[in-house]
Parts: sequence; C-alpha cells; structure tokens
Amino acid sequence: MESLSTNEWQAIDSAHHMAPFTDYADLRKTGARIITRAEGHCVYDTDGNRILDGMAGLWCVNVGYGRHELVEAASRQMTELPYYNNFFKTSNPPVAALSRRLAELTPDGLNNAFFANSGSEANDTIIRMVRHFWALEGKPEKRVIIGREYGYHGSTIMSASMGGMSGMHNQAANEPDFEHIRPPYGFLYQGNQDEAVFAANAASWLEDRILEVGADRVAAFVAEPVQGAGGVIVPPDGYFAHIEAICRKHDILFIVDEVITGFGRTGHWFASQKMGLSPDMMTMAKGLTSGYMPMSAVMVGDRVADRLIADGGEFYHGFTYSGHPVAAAVALANLDLIERENMIETVRDDTGPYLASALASLADHRLVGEVRTFGLLAAIELVKSKDGPVMFEDTGTVGGMCRDHAIQRGLMMRAVRDAMILSPALSYTRADIDETVAIARKALDATAADLGL
Ligand SMILES: Cc1ncc(COP(=O)(O)O)c(C=O)c1O
Repeated sequence: MESLSTNEWQAIDSAHHMAPFTDYADLRKTGARIITRAEGHCVYDTDGNRILDGMAGLWCVNVGYGRHELVEAASRQMTELPYYNNFFKTSNPPVAALSRRLAELTPDGLNNAFFANSGSEANDTIIRMVRHFWALEGKPEKRVIIGREYGYHGSTIMSASMGGMSGMHNQAANEPDFEHIRPPYGFLYQGNQDEAVFAANAASWLEDRILEVGADRVAAFVAEPVQGAGGVIVPPDGYFAHIEAICRKHDILFIVDEVITGFGRTGHWFASQKMGLSPDMMTMAKGLTSGYMPMSAVMVGDRVADRLIADGGEFYHGFTYSGHPVAAAVALANLDLIERENMIETVRDDTGPYLASALASLADHRLVGEVRTFGLLAAIELVKSKDGPVMFEDTGTVGGMCRDHAIQRGLMMRAVRDAMILSPALSYTRADIDETVAIARKALDATAADLGL
C-alpha cells in the first residue's frame, strides 16, 4: 500500500468512501481516523497514536489482534482451496468440520448450521426459515416476529425491521409483520420493583403483545440475551425463563441472537448456556472468526431442521460465500485458540469479575447513573442527575463527547445514546482493564468539565 499522510488518506476517503452508519456531511468536515495496524489489544492510526481497543473492533475480535494461528489457517486454506460453492450438492472439509463443532458447542438440540457472511444475513435467513417452517406446518398465517425496542439484529431491510431501532425503521426498514415490545431495561423501567417482580412483568409484555396480535399469527420471538448495540441492557434474573415459558405456551419459536454474546464474551461459550436457555434457533457471527474473516451462521434446532428436511423441498436461499472454506478454516483455528488458551474460563473466573469491580469504582462519578457488566460486556450510563435519575435531553450528545475524550486519551470506547460501552477481547488482561478504567475516568472528568459540572 502506498505511504500517504493522514490528510492525504482522509481526502481520498472523504471523496470516495461512503462508510456505514456515518453522517457524511459531518465526516467530511473532520475526516476519518485512518487505522493502519493493530497488535494485541491496541490499534494504531496514521498519526502514530496507540489506542487501547475497549470494543474489540466492533464486539468481534475476541482473540485480539495479530494472532498468527489465524493468518496461517487462512493462508493454508487459500493455497489448498480458496473457494468453492456449497450449492448443488458440494461441500468442503472445513465447513463440514465447523458445522459439527458448532453443534457440539451450542446448547442441546441445535444440531445444524446454515452459513452466511454477516449477522444481518444470518437473521434474514432465520426470518425465511421461520416463515417457511410454519407454512410447512400448515400455519402460513404465523408470520409475525416479535422483537424488542433497542434490539439490534442487523441492517438489511428485514433484519433492521426485526430490530427495534426507530432511526433505522424511519429510513425504509420497517416491513410489515414485525412487532416490538419494551426491553427489560431496569435502569428505565424497574423503578422500585424487586428483580423477580420486574423479570415477570417485563416478560409479561411479550404475552400481552402475543394476545393482542393473536398467537395464531405469531411465528417467533427474537432476543439478544444481553442487548448489545441497544446499550448493553442486561435482563433481570429469571426474565428469560418466563419468556421461554410464554413462547412454549403459545407455540412460538424462541430465537436467540448471540452475534455479540457468543464465543466466550459472557464467560461461557454462549450466553444461552449461562442463562439456561433452550432456543429453537440461534444467530452467530463476529466472535465465530474473531472478525479475521467475515462469517456468520444460523444454528437450527431439531424441530425446525427436521421439518425442513422432511418436507421442505429445496430451500431457495443462500449466498455465493455461504460456507466459505477460508472463513471456515479461520473459524476452526479461532475456536481452537479460544479453547487452548482457556479464554472463556479466564473471562468467567478472573477478568469478567475484575472488570465488574474495576468499573464499579466509577459509580461515584457525578455523571454516572449506573454501571452494568455481564462477562466482558459493560455499560456506563451517563445521567444529568443521579436523582431520579434524570437523563440528558439531547440524547447522545454527552455520550459522544465522552467517547471523543476517551479516544483522544487512547481508549476506544463507544457511546450508545448516553451509555459508554465496552466489549474488549477475551484476552484483555487485568492491566488492560486498569488502563481502561483510568482513561474512562479522565474522559468522564473532561466531559463533566465541558458541561460546567
Ligand atoms: C446482536 C446482533 N445481531 C446482528 C448483528 C448484525 O451483524 P452484521 O453487522 O455482521 O450484519 C449485530 C451487529 O452488531 C448484532 O450486534
């Protein structure tokens, strides 16, 4: 790659690149930060800044950067078989081996994998499969899928319609036959209910909606075990036990989207295992390859798979790169690495609890209304006043200020509305956590100073 200055790269980028989830006018004023390389848990930009990556890329680089095992797996597979399709009765060894491995790692009953390239495509696949399944069951009117406000399931028209992001709905991603209920967002909705009562009440919003729509029209309920892009919303204990019971009672498929929570982030292979869930289908992506190659999968439970196999005929769905051999080889090497280095146990027993206690030290900051953690997922909720709490009126502005202060000080931390989000690599150390919390505190102080607090 040619060696250009920051300004030169920014000019080229601004002139020709329409980046995802970007305000183009705004970006053209400032120019993008140009990231050139990454190592361990840090990324580096064209100005030589080192930034500790508290987000593991976009919740995905679970094994950290610079892992040669993954590079070598890709290189070997590219030499041997860089591509062949899985259409028309062909397959390849890495994708067959990966399918078996995922069936072993996921909760019982999820024994079949359908591969795609992104979480969005995987969720689109689920929507097609679910509706096809109910049609085969003789209930084609069961089409409605219920998700949750602030849920994120991707950016294709269907996956964004299934998600609960109103901004996306307002930009032509609001298809019919999707419904959204309130999430179990304790910070906003719990008030003085105790956890068990709130869990039951929050789950009852699902039953209310099913009864409103009519169970004979509802195909599925979909949920992230912990809502990631919605602001790391951690459900109260027992919420999903109620949810599953409601789904079973009304014969509605239960789908978990583990795109963020999968592959060790919660201190278990999947959050479903930590929470004791038995989903009918599961979405996975991100940590499947630690982001080194694009790959996603739908794990299909026996009930749906058996029906599709028995009388579905051809499933008219798939992508050129479904089951890409290089991505599958990288995924296998990635899973080996996670296992060999005991990353999941470390998150569960050491760094997860350590992150929780280290971040709890920020709770006394005047801007912090609540700190939430779940494994290596965390949110620091910023408030105008702890009393109430009172949220900032211009949602997102203060979070954006705090994020910018953190990045200037060498920490990549994301803002969702006014919650600061962390989702570091599973290999993040105690020293990384200490550095993260120290920078986060400085960013909070600088934000408070900007606000004149
Ligand atoms: C829970 C969840 N599902 C689906 C997606 C969409 O994945 P992708 O961006 O790979 O399409 C995301 C992306 O962040 C996600 O967090």
